Amino acid sequence: MKDTFTVIAFGDVVGPYATEKLGRAIKRIKSEYSADMVIVNAENSAKGNGVDISSADYLLRKGADILTSGNHVWKRSEIKDYLDGSEFLIRPANYPPSCPGKGFTYYDSCGIRVLVMNVLGTVYMDPLDSPFDAVSAILKSEKGNYDISVLDVHAEATSEKLAIANYFDGRITAVFGTHTHVRTADARLLPKGTAYITDIGMTGRPDSILGVDKEQIIEHMTTHMPTKFNVGDGETEANFAVITVDMNTKKAISIISASAGI
Ligand SMILES: [Fe+2]
Ligand SMILES: [Fe+2]
Repeated sequence: MKDTFTVIAFGDVVGPYATEKLGRAIKRIKSEYSADMVIVNAENSAKGNGVDISSADYLLRKGADILTSGNHVWKRSEIKDYLDGSEFLIRPANYPPSCPGKGFTYYDSCGIRVLVMNVLGTVYMDPLDSPFDAVSAILKSEKGNYDISVLDVHAEATSEKLAIANYFDGRITAVFGTHTHVRTADARLLPKGTAYITDIGMTGRPDSILGVDKEQIIEHMTTHMPTKFNVGDGETEANFAVITVDMNTKKAISIISASAGI
């Protein structure tokens, strides 16, 4: 078994232009960091938001190993059947059990089994089941089946992400946040060893508001009238976290937050 295992996780990819750009950059960034595995949050990868079959397949073909998602996962109805049949795209685990897809999956890399989980926050978001309970249930049912565990907490409130990460400190290898599209400066190892960052950020245009044209968001916020949101093209940046795990102890040894022009 390798001595270390490195995971790169990219924050929400916003729109088809950024998705295409990221697809072309994944392998380069992966090799720059000598990474073994790539996770991409794909909830905004399709045209008009959500994730569709072509954006999911494209990212997977270009080198993403697992795709996580979030509150926008249901936007494109075609994704429901895809979610049911896919081992590579997951949806938040705390949606009702009747929803398509699963909240966790596995990635195998040279005998190393990585459990990837996805959960949605409930503070300032839909009142779903407790994310704490949903993750606890996965850890219980999957106990003994994995070497490394990773959790994408797709949530609005920094406090909720911190609470979830600290609740599972020492029990999950790495917990990272997504959804706000804004990269936080708090990547660190928690006291019991879990690697953590409140939000990875996004893959999109820095000169935008969360990936959307600035003028439209400002018009909406100044008039409170319905406005069409456009995700255009232009200079694009990928925000990501790089997590390295010591395979002898199965504990994270580092987490950094990074950004690259793509
Ligand atoms: Fe998003
Ligand atoms: Fe989101």
